[in-house]
Amino acid sequence: MHGNQPLGIAVIGTGRMGADHVRRIDRVISGARVAAVADTDAERANAVAAGIDGCTAHTDPAAAMAVAGVDAVLIASPGPAHEAALLAAFELDLPVLCEKPLTPDAASALRVVEAEQALGHRRIQVGFMRRYDTEYVRLKALLGTGQLGRPLMLHNRHRNVASSPFFTSSMLITDSVSHEVDVTRWLLGHEITAVTVLAPDSSAGAPDGLRDPQFVVLETDGGALSDVEIFVNCGFGYQVQAEVVCERGTARVGDGHHLVTHTAGRWGGTITQDWTERFAQAYDDELRAWVDTTRRGGVDGPSAWDGYAAAAVCEAGVRALQEGCRVPVELAEKPALYR
Ligand SMILES: NC(=O)c1ccc[n+]([C@@H]2O[C@H](COP(=O)([O-])OP(=O)(O)OC[C@H]3O[C@@H](n4cnc5c(N)ncnc54)[C@H](O)[C@@H]3O)[C@@H](O)[C@H]2O)c1
Repeated sequence: MHGNQPLGIAVIGTGRMGADHVRRIDRVISGARVAAVADTDAERANAVAAGIDGCTAHTDPAAAMAVAGVDAVLIASPGPAHEAALLAAFELDLPVLCEKPLTPDAASALRVVEAEQALGHRRIQVGFMRRYDTEYVRLKALLGTGQLGRPLMLHNRHRNVASSPFFTSSMLITDSVSHEVDVTRWLLGHEITAVTVLAPDSSAGAPDGLRDPQFVVLETDGGALSDVEIFVNCGFGYQVQAEVVCERGTARVGDGHHLVTHTAGRWGGTITQDWTERFAQAYDDELRAWVDTTRRGGVDGPSAWDGYAAAAVCEAGVRALQEGCRVPVELAEKPALYR
């Protein structure tokens, strides 16, 4: 990158999230441009690149990263493709915003952490965008004042209208609860030490064989408990709520009371229908912060270690679901790079 030039970004994966990030870079935030895109589906890559001046389309992520004028990489391909893309970005020592999950399992996430350590400096920000949501930011700031005392319990609710046809019972944990795993670690500043998963009878609205809803209990090394109701076929809306119970009070986000109407003998509002709507501001601010920090030569936000810890907790969660028991989380020793 030179002087005041916009940050040239290669976007890897131009599906739902990737195309939305391309739109955001192109039309919402300043200081960046989409220099190249890559998708194994050439038609999709071409269609996304077609609307953008000077953007080239590729099927090979490494080719997109090697285009002249690429200063940074945004990875929005499916989780299993992240490790290869991250290692390709490391080859060129490029800063990366990697959509969650860092990788789908703890072993591959630890390989990425080790490869970043070998580079000798942080390059990765993981896309845990709730850390940029205005309500969560306020909640974190309030906890930081100590006004409410020590946090003892965190109650989370995470509901989707309907799950994708390929969703499995384990994916409720690895794809959805992974956000609450990060929120718990970030809000409380604790590591998660054990996971228990309980499941009531599945909802009639869930596809056959899917354990939905589930109730996840996370224990932390700071002596707090965090529980998560995950219900991905609730039918009525996309809801994400969190309430922290502290020694001297409680604080809660996600009620969604932006506009309340009173008419015809009733009062109420609307419920968001998906994450692109509920977290629009968070995605914008996440990308804005990443671009600004990267242009200054820095790295900030959720780290590869946060991505690894989330992967390890989710892996324990999947075992807890499958084996019906409490599963301790075994983390590697935290390297100095992330302390
Ligand atoms: N932060 C969030 O709230 C949030 C929300 C949804 C999805 N995600 C994450 O974003 C990522 C993408 O999810 P999505 O919903 O956009 O999926 P998607 O299936 O809509 O898009 C993925 C795209 O990647 C392409 N692809 C597949 N393998 C590839 C490879 N090796 N290299 C390049 N492109 C490849 C596919 O052709 C597809 O176009 C996932 O990691 C997902 O977990 C994050």
